[in-house]
Amino acid sequence: MYTEKKTQMTAEPMSDRDLSEQIKQVTKENHVRAENTELMLSFQRGQVTLQQYKLLLCSLYEIYQALEEEMDRNCNHPGVAPIYFPTELARLEAIEKDLEFFFGQDWREKIIVPAATKRYCHRLRQIGKENPEFLIAHAYTRYLGDLSGGQVLGRIAQKSMSLKSSEGLSFFAFPGVSSPNLFKQLYRSRMNSVELTEEERNGVLEEAIMAFEFNIQVFEDLQKMLGNIENKPQTCSTHSTSVKMLFKDGTLIKRTPLLRMVLAIFVALATVSMGIYAL
Ligand code: HEM
Repeated sequence: MYTEKKTQMTAEPMSDRDLSEQIKQVTKENHVRAENTELMLSFQRGQVTLQQYKLLLCSLYEIYQALEEEMDRNCNHPGVAPIYFPTELARLEAIEKDLEFFFGQDWREKIIVPAATKRYCHRLRQIGKENPEFLIAHAYTRYLGDLSGGQVLGRIAQKSMSLKSSEGLSFFAFPGVSSPNLFKQLYRSRMNSVELTEEERNGVLEEAIMAFEFNIQVFEDLQKMLGNIENKPQTCSTHSTSVKMLFKDGTLIKRTPLLRMVLAIFVALATVSMGIYAL
């Protein structure tokens, strides 16, 4: 548990050689770019819409599913064990709750994500198998972000979407973390306790930059999807197939190849009937 782990914190001051300091330094510029994506700016300006948030939640669901499954599978790996805090940090159940609130009980059928989300998840699964110590970089990027700027964003989101209670916003709540700042200190000290070779350390630092870039690409793809939905139904490329999307009563639906075929048959029949009528 968190309190138990807190007592095991090292009291030593951080140094430039600490992974937590290095990772913050190398990703500084990427953080600024992430903050300045259109989607994150909407949040900061208090202009996030329900559609933006619902679409973001769908992607967060897939990302945290991949991240947390890989963390669970590798929880005894020496590069993962020190930063494994499922009770305090795990987000998947909270996201599921939010998705049910916004989409209803059949939310699983309504999940839609862009290609960038698929690429991000693919990378998480790949390193989970090949380089579990790189999971530190991804866990840091998501969880410490959620415990930092994410806390303010949650309050802004509630106002922007005029939500009366905190329903639909479980993602931002960390009931197992009483002090985000203290917890972040503990987390950093745990990151610094991981023993890494020089090569592994460089790998983790590079992976952290990639983790930010994956997030930026997801935000950009989501914004493109939203632009397409708001302007006109457009083709959106996903990992496996190409689907058209529409909003119906505020809900995303997929226009599947089967629906397209039925429409095509209908148009063909109508054309033939008109031809016969003209004769
Ligand atoms: C609206 C967008 C965002 C705002 C306003 C924001 C703001 C902040 C703030 C104020 C901090 C605390 C800085 C400190 O304690 O020195 C922080 C830390 C952090 N943020 Fe963000 N952030 C945003 C987006 C993101 C995104 C999209 C990610 C990654 C996906 C992210 C990842 C992080 C991480 C990993 C930290 C911890 C840095 C460290 O202490 O090492 N942030 N953010």
